[in-house]
Amino acid sequence: MRDQDQQFFDSFMLVIGILIGVAVGLFFLARSIAMDTQNEYVMSDPRVLAAIDERIRPVGRVVLSGDESLAASPQPAAPAPTGPATPLTGEQVFNQACFACHAPPGIGGAPVLGDADQWGSRIAKGIEVLEQNALNGFQGDTGFMPAKGGRPDLSDQEVIDAVHYMVEQVQAN
Ligand code: HEC
Repeated sequence: MRDQDQQFFDSFMLVIGILIGVAVGLFFLARSIAMDTQNEYVMSDPRVLAAIDERIRPVGRVVLSGDESLAASPQPAAPAPTGPATPLTGEQVFNQACFACHAPPGIGGAPVLGDADQWGSRIAKGIEVLEQNALNGFQGDTGFMPAKGGRPDLSDQEVIDAVHYMVEQVQAN
């Protein structure tokens, strides 16, 4: 009885051993097949390539002034260009660009917003003259009005709207 048990145990262990051997063999077989086939796809996956690029990106680089290659280097994507800004209203332009001189008390001889005495003779020249003087600059009797109030970034229409706003403030009072 003892010998039979021993015999059964030996052959049982032999079968188990063979099965383990087959399992390990299949594992390595699958691995080597995957190496040759799947690795190719993994390495060409854009996400993997991006991750590698990110890891091996140089920390810094020397750029001489005027070096055009700077423009070609991978830069973090610039924020999408915003469309043309919505034009400012006359009042907004006044508060941003004209206020500095035209608010009371009136700097450098600038006619004060809403002051009928100072604006009367100017309005009498006609709105077109005022628009042109605001756009192109104007040296008058009381001082110097810089072109567009020194804000060349304003559009002509914005400056004209500001002139209208200023004239309206006189007429409202
Ligand atoms: C740096 C000061 C300054 C700023 C800023 C300024 N102005 Fe003037 N502005 C003047 C002065 C000074 C005069 C008066 C010139 C004169 O009559 O001798 C004047 C005059 C004017 C006149 C009257 C022109 C005329 O023919 O009598 C208008 C209109 C005018 N400014 C519009 C504007 C507008 C619109 C802005 C803003 C976009 C602006 N100004 C910003 C100084 C300024």
